Amino acid sequence: MIRPILIHPDPRLKKLCEAVTEVTPALRSLADDMLETMYEAPGIGLAAPQIGVMSRIIVMDCIKDGPPEPMVLLNPQVLWASEDVNVYEEGCLSIPDQYAEVKRPAAVKVAWMDLDGKLQERDFSGLWATCVQHEIDHLDGKLFIDYLGPLKRQMITRKMEKLKRERARMA
Ligand code: NI
Repeated sequence: MIRPILIHPDPRLKKLCEAVTEVTPALRSLADDMLETMYEAPGIGLAAPQIGVMSRIIVMDCIKDGPPEPMVLLNPQVLWASEDVNVYEEGCLSIPDQYAEVKRPAAVKVAWMDLDGKLQERDFSGLWATCVQHEIDHLDGKLFIDYLGPLKRQMITRKMEKLKRERARMA
């Protein structure tokens, strides 16, 4: 089921999310919904708070060409980050049509729990590294615009407030 994506500014996008304690059928179905919502948007990553669920769950698939590689990460945690940095022009499904360059570690080692309740660990680089850090930030109430200067951030926030007003009028 496709879920509506919250648009910034929204208090739920600024909150710390709670850890997942067990994998239930409801959680599996939520993960399915998140992947479906992400692919439909379309996007390469989605975090649970973006659909109003305040749990530490992210989904991603950064494959552009080739067979899809859907990933579901519960309680993801960065164990190590490289000193090398990468600059990517980032966007966010909660901040539609706005992009800005963000500097982040070029590679990260991340641990998480999978849908079988097993602990996983993987090194991410390239777009995957940027995406996983962007999505983990969402679980801590942080958006990519928080890395920008205050003027740029305010300009984007005003555009989003206007977009939300327009959407509310059309609803
Ligand atoms: Ni995002």
